[in-house]
Amino acid sequence: MCNLLKEEMENRILSPSETAEDGEASFDNPLRPRSLNEYIGQEKAKENLKVFIGAAKIRGEALDHVLLYGPPGLGKTTLSMIIANELGVNIKITSGPAIERPGDLAALLTNLAEGDVLFVDEIHRLSRNVEEILYPAMEDFTIDIVTGKGQMATSYHLPLPRFTLVGATTRAGQLTAPLRDRFGVILRLEMYSNDQLASIIKRSASILKIDFDDEGIYEIASRSRGTPRIANRLLKRVRDFAQVMNSGISASIAKEALDKLGIDELGLDAGDRRLLETMIKFYSGGPVGLETLAAAIGEEAVTIEDVYEPFLIQIGFINRTPRGRCVTSLAYHHMGYENPRETK
Ligand SMILES: Nc1ncnc2c1ncn2[C@@H]1O[C@H](COP(=O)(O)OP(=O)(O)OP(=O)(O)O)[C@@H](O)[C@H]1O
Ligand SMILES: [Mg+2]
Repeated sequence: MCNLLKEEMENRILSPSETAEDGEASFDNPLRPRSLNEYIGQEKAKENLKVFIGAAKIRGEALDHVLLYGPPGLGKTTLSMIIANELGVNIKITSGPAIERPGDLAALLTNLAEGDVLFVDEIHRLSRNVEEILYPAMEDFTIDIVTGKGQMATSYHLPLPRFTLVGATTRAGQLTAPLRDRFGVILRLEMYSNDQLASIIKRSASILKIDFDDEGIYEIASRSRGTPRIANRLLKRVRDFAQVMNSGISASIAKEALDKLGIDELGLDAGDRRLLETMIKFYSGGPVGLETLAAAIGEEAVTIEDVYEPFLIQIGFINRTPRGRCVTSLAYHHMGYENPRETK
């Protein structure tokens, strides 16, 4: 992700991307579940993983390579750590853009122990020549490295320990076919239901020793855009309000705090509302092209695609059509407008 986009998203309390304040980067982030049983939701992915992990352990073999994909903040990094934990092996964490040269990847791979997990975040951003080294590593557990140039060039063929590659991406469509084909297990993470988010927030509140009642928790859950990272962040902001008022988290405190933060009852913030309003007022609800829309609201097209749209599409407020984006009747009503196209 480009720095500009990152900065822009970090300024947004509803950004699904990680910020320094979330404190997630550290291994000992207390809110990160450590086992599959603590990991809430994603039942399908969990069920599959339990079987594959169990089978790998019985056979005493490394787990097949796993690809996790889905929007930011849904728990890909968390799940990769859990996979290593459940297998009882070590995990090395890196990312596509961090592996600049084939030598960097070779160094990582040759330092793994038998059965270890190598986690590559943003795997769609691996460079071409690094990716080519990865193919035989994933398939045959060997690497070929060439050192030196011209007549001085020497090539080495090195065996590797049997390892498990766990790749994560928000953009599965950008993965090359040969790379995608080398993953034995491909799991898509879904947005969370409000009930699942409420369980996540309750768990976090207990860990952070915050007093709450169920309605207060549900109020936060329903404004968290289906995303655990946002849920945990809103919990911390509401806690600030509650503490100043010398109270626990109740529905009325949560409501007041989130209203003050400009987050409405569906979890939309000023940016989302500006986007919808622009589409309604200036483009008759669409269809409007992504670039046109980006220029109209003064945002980058990628920000609209990666940050605003996934949730607005999920709740049925925006449709993507071949001719551009359209606002739905649901969105018209939420924004307090009548949809002129609606038959009365
Ligand atoms: N299933 C879950 N149960 C409980 N907490 C969760 C779950 N999934 C995620 N979380 C919480 O949400 C935070 C964000 O998750 P994580 O960092 O794994 O997201 P991600 O998918 O890797 O995001 P990105 O695409 O930005 O890297 C975690 O620190 C954790 O506290
Ligand atoms: Mg991550």
